[in-house]
Amino acid sequence: MTGYKIKFNGIDRLYNDYSWRLTRRAKAVWESGYVLQGKYLKELEVQVAKKYKRKYAVGVGSATDGLYFAMKAVGLDKTSTVICPAFSYIATSGAIKRLGSEIHFVDTDTNGNIGDWHGHGLPDCVLYVNMFGNPADYNRLRQYCDTHRIPLIEDAAQSQGAMHGKTPSGAMGDVSIFSFDPMKNMPSFGGGGMVLTDSKEIYDRVLSLRRHGTSGKDKYGYNSLISEDHANQLLLLIQKFDKLQNMRNKVCKRYYKNLPEIEILCPTPKTKSSNHKFVILCDRRDELKAYLETKGVETKIHYSKTLDNHNVGNYPNAQNICAKALSLPIYPHLKMEEVDYICDRIKEFVYV
Ligand SMILES: Cc1ncc(COP(=O)(O)O)c(C=O)c1O
Repeated sequence: MTGYKIKFNGIDRLYNDYSWRLTRRAKAVWESGYVLQGKYLKELEVQVAKKYKRKYAVGVGSATDGLYFAMKAVGLDKTSTVICPAFSYIATSGAIKRLGSEIHFVDTDTNGNIGDWHGHGLPDCVLYVNMFGNPADYNRLRQYCDTHRIPLIEDAAQSQGAMHGKTPSGAMGDVSIFSFDPMKNMPSFGGGGMVLTDSKEIYDRVLSLRRHGTSGKDKYGYNSLISEDHANQLLLLIQKFDKLQNMRNKVCKRYYKNLPEIEILCPTPKTKSSNHKFVILCDRRDELKAYLETKGVETKIHYSKTLDNHNVGNYPNAQNICAKALSLPIYPHLKMEEVDYICDRIKEFVYV
């Protein structure tokens, strides 16, 4: 088979599937004249809170902002210390840096999720990620944070749709943060994020921070919103979310079926992945990436460096993933024949 051109991200196909509905929703907002701070973002917040079993949700400009607001809202500042996995997207630790708190990086497990953080002293907060959509060990995190009465913050940017037992991602943190970046499972055509919590105090503080600081604590704040046209489109995508997840899961299953001998970063028992990324480990990763490129398959590396560049040797598991991980295309509208094609090219590279 030849002539394939398979993009890493499929938001264009998502648009094409729902084009007239998405266009109509954006147009309705533009024609109304109410393009910011209107009814659609409010409605989206209500629906996201309901779906993920939280009392409150606040739409913000990005998960990057959401993480920062969440940490400020739980009371962290320059004097605080935060436990954070050494392997994630830069936005995770970037939010702690922006706050000025001290970061204690910890190595991951072999799957890229937060490993053992003991030996760092008692932190003021644990910030963790469900990496690639595979839930981390939530029971252990929850027990530790409850025992020590410190907040657990869930960076759920990659894990909307994942479950740990009966707990959905989005409900695991004292504060949880989703991303609607175009690469994410519920992508907006202009990015965005959402902060979820059950605490009225945290909710009020994040509301204040996202719009110039109106509460007593915050004389100043930021301007970090989801525009009404994007909120109205996300209201369609939240209706379609489970259907789109099923389509994504089928793609993932096909990869598993086709690649039985390839090392894959997969979810642990009793958890359900959001299948945000499909990541294989390969010793000759860079060569494989280049080979797939010549065959019309776009792949990405998540991530080539640990978050703590200065102490690279301290994170053997994270470092192993940095050296070998290759993310393959995965999205609801990827066709089975395309998955088969990608897998055939991988096998031909690995075995021939
Ligand atoms: C784990 C993680 N945290 C945070 C972010 C930041 O999300 P956003 O692009 O919405 O700021 C991302 C986005 O890639 C991410 O993967």
